[in-house]
Amino acid sequence: MNLFEVYPLYDVTPVKAKGSSVWDDKNQEYLDLYGGHGVISVGHSHPEYVAKITNQLHNIGFYSNAVQNPLQQQLAKKLGEVSNCEDYNLFLCNSGAEANENALKVASFVTGKSKVIAFENSFHGRTSASVSVTDNKKIQAEINKFNPVTILPLNDLFLLEKTLEKGDVCSVILEGIQGVGGLDEGTTEFFKGLEKLCWKYEALLILDEIQSGYGRSGAFFAFQHHQIKPDMITVAKGMGNGYPMAGVLIHESIKASFGMLGTTFGGNHLACAAGLAVLEIIEHEQLLENVKEVSEYFIAQAKTIDVVKNIKGKGLMIGLEFEDEVGELRKKLIYEEYIFTGGAMNKNLLRILPPLNISTKEIDVFITALKKIL
Ligand SMILES: Cc1ncc(COP(=O)(O)O)c(C=O)c1O
Repeated sequence: MNLFEVYPLYDVTPVKAKGSSVWDDKNQEYLDLYGGHGVISVGHSHPEYVAKITNQLHNIGFYSNAVQNPLQQQLAKKLGEVSNCEDYNLFLCNSGAEANENALKVASFVTGKSKVIAFENSFHGRTSASVSVTDNKKIQAEINKFNPVTILPLNDLFLLEKTLEKGDVCSVILEGIQGVGGLDEGTTEFFKGLEKLCWKYEALLILDEIQSGYGRSGAFFAFQHHQIKPDMITVAKGMGNGYPMAGVLIHESIKASFGMLGTTFGGNHLACAAGLAVLEIIEHEQLLENVKEVSEYFIAQAKTIDVVKNIKGKGLMIGLEFEDEVGELRKKLIYEEYIFTGGAMNKNLLRILPPLNISTKEIDVFITALKKIL
């Protein structure tokens, strides 16, 4: 059997990783400034993370959601404390798209309405409802076009109210900072206005923090830079540091009922062990502080490069915008300088999503390589 080839691949075969480094099958070391699409939060193969998952595997790796699993409660408690979101309840699932799918479903269950507002350049995943609120027609099949969705420009409160006042909107979904689209974000005025309008027109506000969450922006969640309180928050990527897991934080004012949501694998023992290890490491290594320090250093260094026209994002979710497309630059960074970076829908933008415990020395390696290529 061959693979169903949906991914254009770089010719690199990673076989080992540690911290912010990855080694290929020829023992070449690479600097990882992309964390496999922003997934690696506490660094590759962190010893505490490895120990916790290994230990769990020796006890029990999986049982279904039909029996008690105290690790789920431990994870929810820890997540509430570390993120300062103790007034939310947690539903555990397996991927970012699935988290958004469930959040959108909850909004529709609770309000009895079906229309969703999403924003230009958004990316929320590839399952039915998630892809329908993603602003990319190319990845929507005919079957995905049944959900009623209105796509609006970011930061336009007037158009937002015009759409909400029709009264048929169950939820508004947006990213804390846009990822795949190219690091655009709402202003504080917009986030605050959005929160008020959702409340006024009884639509639930869903913050997709799948990429911008888990400390990546320098706050635990990117929306926390704007002092608002969403009804639901979706998380994935950095949550498991590579173990596939995701969740929906649902405000305690929204009541659960048996059978409302469900999954076979979500919240399994191994996933909880991975998720707990990540939160413990974020906390005791004070990674949010590191994100802020390294981010400041990175941005100061990037400003010294003439051809960088614009620096976008927050914390260690950074976009370097160039006058030209960055495809060739990314190839040179990988094949000549052995550095992984990311691209975006905005073809002129280089996306930087390193592990949250990366050092300024490693940033120097990147800046020197970038200057050399340019
Ligand atoms: C903001 C955002 N939402 C949702 C998703 C979908 O997550 P997954 O690929 O785990 O389904 C992604 C993935 O890139 C994302 O960046």
